[in-house]
Amino acid sequence: MTFKKAQWPRKLRSTEWFGGTSRDHIYHRSWMKNQGLPADLFDGRPVIGICNTWSEMTPCNAHLRDLADRVRHGIYEAGGLPLEFPVFSPGESALRPTAMMFRNLCAMDVEEAIRGNPMDGVVLLAGCDKTTPALLMGAASVDLPAIVVSGGPMLNGMFRGERVGSGTHLWKFSEAVKAGEMTQEDFLDAEASMSRSPGSCNTMGTASTMASMSEALGMALSGNAAIPAVDSRRRVMAHLTGRRIVDMVKDDLKPSDILTRSAFENAIRTNGAIGGSTNAVVHLLAIAGRVGIDLSLDDWDRCGRDIPTIVNLLPSGKYLMEEFFYAGGLPVVIKQLCEAGVMDTEALTVSGNSVWDEVRAVRNWNEDVILPVDKALTRQGGIAVLRGNLAPSGAVLKPSAATPELLVHRGRAVVFEDIDDYKRKINDDDLDIDETCVMVLKNCGPKGYPGMAEVGNMGLPPKVLKKGITDMVRISDARMSGTAYGTVVLHTTPEAAAGGPLAVVQDGDIIELNVPERRLQLEISDTELAARLQAWGPTTPTPASGYEHLFHTHVQGADTGADFDFLVGCRGAAVGKDSH
Ligand code: FES
Repeated sequence: MTFKKAQWPRKLRSTEWFGGTSRDHIYHRSWMKNQGLPADLFDGRPVIGICNTWSEMTPCNAHLRDLADRVRHGIYEAGGLPLEFPVFSPGESALRPTAMMFRNLCAMDVEEAIRGNPMDGVVLLAGCDKTTPALLMGAASVDLPAIVVSGGPMLNGMFRGERVGSGTHLWKFSEAVKAGEMTQEDFLDAEASMSRSPGSCNTMGTASTMASMSEALGMALSGNAAIPAVDSRRRVMAHLTGRRIVDMVKDDLKPSDILTRSAFENAIRTNGAIGGSTNAVVHLLAIAGRVGIDLSLDDWDRCGRDIPTIVNLLPSGKYLMEEFFYAGGLPVVIKQLCEAGVMDTEALTVSGNSVWDEVRAVRNWNEDVILPVDKALTRQGGIAVLRGNLAPSGAVLKPSAATPELLVHRGRAVVFEDIDDYKRKINDDDLDIDETCVMVLKNCGPKGYPGMAEVGNMGLPPKVLKKGITDMVRISDARMSGTAYGTVVLHTTPEAAAGGPLAVVQDGDIIELNVPERRLQLEISDTELAARLQAWGPTTPTPASGYEHLFHTHVQGADTGADFDFLVGCRGAAVGKDSH
């Protein structure tokens, strides 16, 4: 840790708006006072933004206004002035065509809202999948003191005496109905049991993964990730976060001080240990790009390869976030990784303390939920990065969610040109497919879908499911929900819509997957592949206008985080002229 605190007191950024007697200063203060703010709140104290992704269209974040009030208490208590502001909230469950298409829009909104407004630091209130990375990306590009507080997961779902995990059981039940093992009526009955409290998905899906990543990166207070949304301690966490940001502003502790290469490597290792979502790959690459850290897919493979998965949560294991919290949550995992010698224990966190200082005193209260390393769910957790002539720039697979026997497999390709083609064909009993085949889905990457939807874990054909088969090798340029499972190759780059080799796979081609050797190969000659690529032409035209045009024109590949090319990097907090 080399961070040196700034001197306090000193003149803050917000005094440019509020700290004088000119006409402009009076203008800025006067309008703020219409909210009933006393004059002495503009005395040069830290002004803290509360960046809120609350929305009733984002049900996972629908309770965040209550948490914002708790943050507000903490800020006032510590001598700051809190000002809450809304940003675009991409909700995973309802937004079309896919919330991922709007992560970058939210990040732009956050960045410009922070930079353009009179604040000295910001609390980032996030929950649902895309809201956490979007807020971190936007805040990192401004680099004012920033801290995350998560909305927290839902309580356990229960259906007829069994745990029901968000998303994971939706996929399981839906396959069971197709296989004739569950009635449609029972599926409808199960619906109400899946989301029984406020909060984000209760599995180790993308929301829980990204809350864990925030904590592992050092951008949230220790213990933030797992506290259930409705537990009173979630409010305490919000309150303490409000207090802490005021001191972060006084110390001038910024994202660039915390988001170092070590922090990202710590987060990648933590992702392996928790059996985290493959979506963390694109999000961490994008966040790293905002602070100028040259993180790559190879870092994911190198850092995560030998990390055992020790968190026994769905979809890799059997418990849910509530049990994870009762067992001690992420600090226990980080402590075990520190003791195993794989973490940078000196990495700085928002508390001002090192990673090790934050976790050294914690205990594991349930070794069936957070397993000892020698009883790990899998010895090699993490994310496998595959390369070969089918994925020259890489593809990813989550071994802990895959069927071990399928990790080395050769099979005949059954190709779906896009998601509509898949939907048209998959239930047709005449489809020439069996469990040894490799399902290939094209045109679902960032440009292709557009937005890189979570359709990579495409459901199996009913005629295969009816044989009791639950997994097949699937390959696409799409993403997969963090709550999903299977031997699923994702994020294949370059994507099909950008003319990657995936675009020219044909029915009947043989594909080889070899995860231990990190290989994904289309078994055709180089000459044949070159000829097919030469003959290929784009099938997804650039939209003529609107946000989709911006997205399609500027989104980068999944291998670098699917950020917009013009948003990569840190642009700082400096603003242009005052308009008054
Ligand atoms: Fe919002 Fe899962 S759908 S967290």
